[in-house]
Formats: sequence, structure tokens, C-alpha cells
Amino acid sequence: MKYPYLENKNILIGVSSGIAIYKAVDLVSKLRKMNLNLKVIMTKNAKNWVSDQIFSAVGNCDVYYSSFDVKGGWIPHTELSNWADLFIVAPATANIIAKISCGISNDLLTSTAIAFAKESKLIVPTMNVRMYENKALQRNLKILEADGWTIIEPEVGHLADGEIGKGRYPDNDRILEYAEYLLCKKDFLNKKVLISAGPTVEKIDPVRYITNRSSGKMGYELAREFACRGADVTLVSGPTNLTAPSLVKNFIPVESAIDMEKVMVTYSENSDIIIMSAAVGDFRIKNFSAQKLKKDDVLVLELEKNPDILKELGEKKRENQILIGFAAETQNHEEYAKKKLKEKKLDMIIVNDVSRKDIGFESDENEVIVYSYGEEYRLEKNHKRIIAALIIDYVYNKFC
Ligand code: PMT
Repeated sequence: MKYPYLENKNILIGVSSGIAIYKAVDLVSKLRKMNLNLKVIMTKNAKNWVSDQIFSAVGNCDVYYSSFDVKGGWIPHTELSNWADLFIVAPATANIIAKISCGISNDLLTSTAIAFAKESKLIVPTMNVRMYENKALQRNLKILEADGWTIIEPEVGHLADGEIGKGRYPDNDRILEYAEYLLCKKDFLNKKVLISAGPTVEKIDPVRYITNRSSGKMGYELAREFACRGADVTLVSGPTNLTAPSLVKNFIPVESAIDMEKVMVTYSENSDIIIMSAAVGDFRIKNFSAQKLKKDDVLVLELEKNPDILKELGEKKRENQILIGFAAETQNHEEYAKKKLKEKKLDMIIVNDVSRKDIGFESDENEVIVYSYGEEYRLEKNHKRIIAALIIDYVYNKFC
């Protein structure tokens, strides 16, 4: 995944002594591959699980653990807290949470926490379920939240001690999505955005179906970017292999074009911005078989037309609502895109060439031209997250 808002930032990771510490090694490894500056603080007890050398090697960064490692006028906790744009404490044990929540500063990690004066601070509680549910721990988390910490709730599942419950270290991508949120401008706050993504699936029989090559990546990146910038996002998705973006408030999985139509029409009523990036199947099976078709059955598939969801949304469009479509073309891009823009009563259409292997369907990258009435905006080939961000900048400048 791509995290443009973390680029060129100074990121400080505070590691306490949870068993999930090995997942923090992976976090540091992920961050190292990005264009940013990284430093790590470990507690003394964290070093019982993993050597500081591992973090240093994996992150290609300095690792600090002593408050007394003063060099010249360089005092670790004040310098590190000043240096960091973003502070992530992961994993955070019950002990470190208790100490930070009541302002104890008796080691480098807690002293840095108390000296860190920015709002961009994340904490990742990770522990046994009974410890997590303990009243004192919950009380301390509430205090941290009131003090401006963003808390990433642990996941439910198998814990290191064999118990099952809430306390698992979350996926690192989830942590990074929240990290970006803290650093990103919030120009779509209070805007309700509805996005469709992925393919639709039309069943032939209980085991076979017709679909298309859409991976959902373009739509998910649009959803991720809008949510990062403060929008209240509903993502309606056909079947994909992707995980719903963490900041998307409302994720609605659908299968067929008819399913997608129902959800899109319902949610459109309350949406300020609607983007149809889904590759909706134009046809469905007329003679769906409730039983599995046999090899020697004479197979003639009868098709019937699916509704044109975008056209329907264009007809129902209310004042001040912004309606955006995509056009997946292989030739005459401009002509076909402009025709769809007009016929479907859109405010804007984004055309991509789906005959190319390096962009469009499935690829991480895209290259598009945005058409609105009398305007054309070309976006060179780039990661779909960057394309999404540039499209959204354009929407902001033109309509908001
Ligand atoms: O998912 P990825 O692998 O990342 O690929 C991204 C993408 C290529 C799918 C995406 O960028 C894209 O082009 N999406 C639109 C695909 C499409 O169906 O295009 P179209 O030109 O056939 O349709 C025009 C518009 O009408 C689209 O906004 C489409 O969502 C909508 N439509 C189409 C048919 C239909 N029955 N109902 C619709 O609402």
C-alpha cells in the first residue's frame, strides 16, 4: 500500500515490552521502505524480547533506550519529541498505558511521551483479553483519548497465551492508515461521499458466474483518500481480494448489478459526492439455473440488460450533489467519455484505457483524463492512490 502523507515525515516509534513486539519489527520494516525519516525508542523491558540491533538493522535507523544518553546539549526525550512529526507507541502494554495516562516519566519512552506536544500521537494497546477488559486499563485509555492520543483498538482473535479474545496487535496497514489520517489536511470534513468499486457478479448457476477484471483498487484508493481527508465515506464494493480501508465508516459488500443499484440508490439520497468507479456488468443471466448445469446440457445463456446505475443516479441527482463517473474505453476515449458525461448527466467523468496492461484493470497504477464541461485535465501514469488524490484535489478546487 502507498502512504503519501507519511512521505518526508519524521516518525518516532515507541516500543514497549508486549509479546507482539515482533509485529513492531515488521512495522519498522514497512516504514523503512518509504521515503521518510525513522527513529525508535525501546523500553528496557522491550529489550528482553528483541534486541535493539534488530530494530536498528531492519529500520536502518537509530534506536534509543536511555534517558541518560546525553551528547553535548542533546537531551534524548526533548530532542526526540521535538524532532518527530508523528509518534506511534506500538505495542503498548498495560503498564506503559498506565504510566503515560497519569504522566509518569521514569524512562525515555514515557519522558518523550510527556514532552511530545503535537496531536499526531497514536497508541496501539496489545495484551491479554482480561488485562484489556480490566477497568483500570479501560479508564486509562479514556484518559489517553481525552489527552489527544488516537487509540487503535486491538483485534479479536487468538492471543499469544492461547486465549481467544480482544487484545491482538492489529494489522500494520491499519496503524499506518490512522497515522496518515493524523497528518493529512481535512478538506472534506462533514462531506458524505458514496463510492462504488470492483466488479459485479452475475450468477449462471450455483457454481458459475460472469464477471470482469476489476480488482477494486481504483475505487478503494478513492475511498481511502476521501476518508483520510475527513469525509464520511460509504464504500459499496463488488467481490474483491482487498481489505476495506480502515477509515471508511460504512463498507457494504454486494454481488450483482441489481444489488449494487439498490444500495447506491438508497445511499445516494444523503450523499454530497457520488463516484461510480465500479465495473458494472451490463448484462445478467436471464435463465439462471437453481441446479448446477451438467456438462452435456445444451448451454445457451440468455442475457438481459442490467440497469444503468449511473444514469439512474443522474436522473435522480439533486441540487448541489456532485456526480462522477468513470469511462473504461479501448478506443475513441474522448468522444465516448464526453458522450457518457452528457447522457448520464454527470458533473465529471474520468476516462482510462482498459486495453493497456500497465494501467486500468488490476494494475496498481493508472493514467486518466478527467473531463468536465469545457475542461480537460490529464493525469500522467502514477500509483492509483496518487491518481485518487489528484482527482480529489480537482473535485475540491472545482466544486467545493
Ligand atoms: O478496479 P480496478 O482493477 O482498479 O480497475 C479500475 C477500473 C478500470 C474498473 C475503473 O478505473 C473504471 O474505469 N471503472 C468504470 C468501469 C465501467 O464500467 O466503465 P463503463 O465505461 O462501462 O461505464 C461508464 C460508467 O457507468 C461507469 O462509471 C460505470 O460504473 C457506470 N455503469 C456502467 C454500467 C452500468 N450498468 N451501470 C453503471 O452505473
